[in-house]
Amino acid sequence: MRKKARRRSNIELIILIILCVTTIIGAAGWAISIFNLKGANNQLKQNNDLMVQMQEQIQELEERINTVEDENTTIKSEKEVLENEKADLETELKDVKTRLEDLKKEIDEGQVLSSTYYGPRPDKIVALTFDDGPGPYTDRLLNELTEKDVKATFFVLGNRAEKYPELLQRMYLEGHEIGNHSYDHSTLTNMTDEAAADNLLKSSEAIYNASGGANPRLVRPPGGRYNDKLQKICRENNWCIALWSLDTRDWDSRDEKAILVEVFDNGDYSVKDGSILLMHDIYETSINASMELIDRLEKEGYTFVKVSELLYWDNGGAGAGGVYN
Ligand code: NI
Repeated sequence: MRKKARRRSNIELIILIILCVTTIIGAAGWAISIFNLKGANNQLKQNNDLMVQMQEQIQELEERINTVEDENTTIKSEKEVLENEKADLETELKDVKTRLEDLKKEIDEGQVLSSTYYGPRPDKIVALTFDDGPGPYTDRLLNELTEKDVKATFFVLGNRAEKYPELLQRMYLEGHEIGNHSYDHSTLTNMTDEAAADNLLKSSEAIYNASGGANPRLVRPPGGRYNDKLQKICRENNWCIALWSLDTRDWDSRDEKAILVEVFDNGDYSVKDGSILLMHDIYETSINASMELIDRLEKEGYTFVKVSELLYWDNGGAGAGGVYN
């Protein structure tokens, strides 16, 4: 009986031990799982933070890529603009070089006029020329010409250019042609070679200085008188002798109606395509008549051109020392 009780208490003890051990193992398991869970939780949080950081980095990088792409586009279009500008400048350079070569060739060939500055010839052309000025009426004439948009050629005297520099400047700036009519209206054919050359050169210099840059290539000797000596002087200075084809005789008549008759009602001598009209801007009657004849010529379809233009179109240029009318 005692032995039986003892065995029972042993079994109870064993069970108790087993229970205890089981409980301990369970508790330890729990503790480990809780610990693991906590660790996993921390890991998850860290990963989340990392993900947010990386997304921010991605966004930042994408923005930088966009900025660089924008800059690239800007640089590309700037490059295109610069390349176009370069191409334009190269074309211009080539053009200027060609013109320079043409000019050199023409000068070598004794051409007074450069072919590089003339467009196509209008159908009907006429050149108005005014000699012996400028004078007190030239200012009014220039105003009228500007108003009518007409270009003329002025064969001025050097001493008058010195007296009226403001008028020479206007002629030059307003696009008229300025020719050399000697310094003082001396008859050049009566002079020695040297005196005639000096007279024309002095006048040319006065014209250049008064106008602020006009370099006359056309010489109209006083009275239209020229000889071999004068042609030689012109050849040496790359000038040509530019006369006229229609004398309005304004210097003689000093009468508006008579001037108009010379221009329009003088049979074969009347104005025609390619005429060079001779007038003088030192007479008031000539200014009045020229206004009237400009209106009439315009109605008849004429275009007013400068003498060099007319010589270029109708004579194929003008050779140094040549005589043209
Ligand atoms: Ni004269």
